[in-house]
Amino acid sequence: MRRYLVAGNWKLNMGPQAGRDLAAAVGERLRGRTLHGDVLVCPPFVTIPAVAAVAQGDPVLLGAQNCAAHEQGAYTGEVAPGMLKEAGVQYVIIGHSERRQYYGETDADFAAKIDLVHAQGMKAIFCYGEVLEERKAGRAEEVVRAQLQAVLPRLEGPNAYNLVLAYEPVWAIGTGETATPEQAQQMHAFSRALVAEMLGADVAENMRILYGGSCKPGNARELIGQPDVDGGLIGGASLKAEDFVGIVDGAEAVVG
Ligand code: 13P
Repeated sequence: MRRYLVAGNWKLNMGPQAGRDLAAAVGERLRGRTLHGDVLVCPPFVTIPAVAAVAQGDPVLLGAQNCAAHEQGAYTGEVAPGMLKEAGVQYVIIGHSERRQYYGETDADFAAKIDLVHAQGMKAIFCYGEVLEERKAGRAEEVVRAQLQAVLPRLEGPNAYNLVLAYEPVWAIGTGETATPEQAQQMHAFSRALVAEMLGADVAENMRILYGGSCKPGNARELIGQPDVDGGLIGGASLKAEDFVGIVDGAEAVVG
């Protein structure tokens, strides 16, 4: 049985003060509850220490949105995986479509970053998904296969178990347009079959595949209730404690 993961990707929002308040509000709402899954927040780098300070003892895990493809050296403006680990980070999001689209990151960058995240004993959340034109052209599965092929077969042994996938159809990100539960299930089942093909049935059975793209309290239960949807990667709705916890409640309703 896979534990759900509800992960908040705060993107370029929440400085240290606002981030601390938001994490404290989420923690307050969840403290004392027995959760059947995992809850994660991924603040901007500079906000990580403030969130770590209030999230201690709460059932809220700490993540980052990106990392360098190197551990040290002359790479101005970058943050190394080892530094994130030292700051208390447990998960790192890699390959978000905004990194592909605005920062020109490539499959080779993602593969290198995932290796370094794993070398630090952290878990990577690898994002993938098609853009609207690709879906309209009937190429969604082909695109997803290529994106996963670039990263998955390289994973060795136990590292395969330290990867979470996040299917994020780009047309659903920040648009208010959500994949239907049927569309999500279809792509998640397809993804899981690819994982089985590339890494074996046991890894596929254990791998958590999150859905991302306009996930909200009102649609979380139905999306996460699909057999191959193991949680959500939440953008906009992770910026309000009430909405974010509403999505956790949706995930709990599926399990409970
Ligand atoms: P929204 O939930 O704002 O659509 O963003 C999804 C996302 O990109 C999470 O990584």
